[in-house]
Amino acid sequence: MQRTLALIKPDAYAAGHQGAIIAKIQESGLKVIGLKVLHLNRAQVEGFYHVHAARPFFGDLCKFMSEGKIVAMVLEGDDAIARWRALMGPTDATKAPKDTMRGLFGTSIERNATHGSDAVDTAAFEVGYFFAGLELA
Ligand code: RTP
Ligand code: MG
Repeated sequence: MQRTLALIKPDAYAAGHQGAIIAKIQESGLKVIGLKVLHLNRAQVEGFYHVHAARPFFGDLCKFMSEGKIVAMVLEGDDAIARWRALMGPTDATKAPKDTMRGLFGTSIERNATHGSDAVDTAAFEVGYFFAGLELA
């Protein structure tokens, strides 16, 4: 059993795709064991994406991720990290297959609808960034 952090990013939230994305997660068999809606400020996004601080796209990414509400979820299941990343599709939404979250609901390499943790250690940090242990059923 593994846990991963999933985000519905501000582009997909504003477009009203929350329900469709959560339905796909549930159809896949992954369990949503924690869920909250938030609007992160700039400093909170910078802390979340600190591993990307030196990347050229960091400033734009932080502006995007703090522009509106998001949904944060903890997903649980066997191999949850890889399964959620497969459901999301590749980073660039313009190249993502049309049956993936980014292919269906993203519009660019930046505005790509969803986030997913990429490894066991980053998942542990990211789940803890959004949820206290007692909040996870
Ligand atoms: P994520 O962390 O959000 O799940 O996405 P990812 O692993 O597929 O991609 P990553 O390399 O971790 O990048 C984080 C987010 O930064 C934005 N990005 N913009 N303009 C660009 O070239 C660029 N590259 C990445 C995307 O929003 C990406 O998801
Ligand atoms: Mg990433």
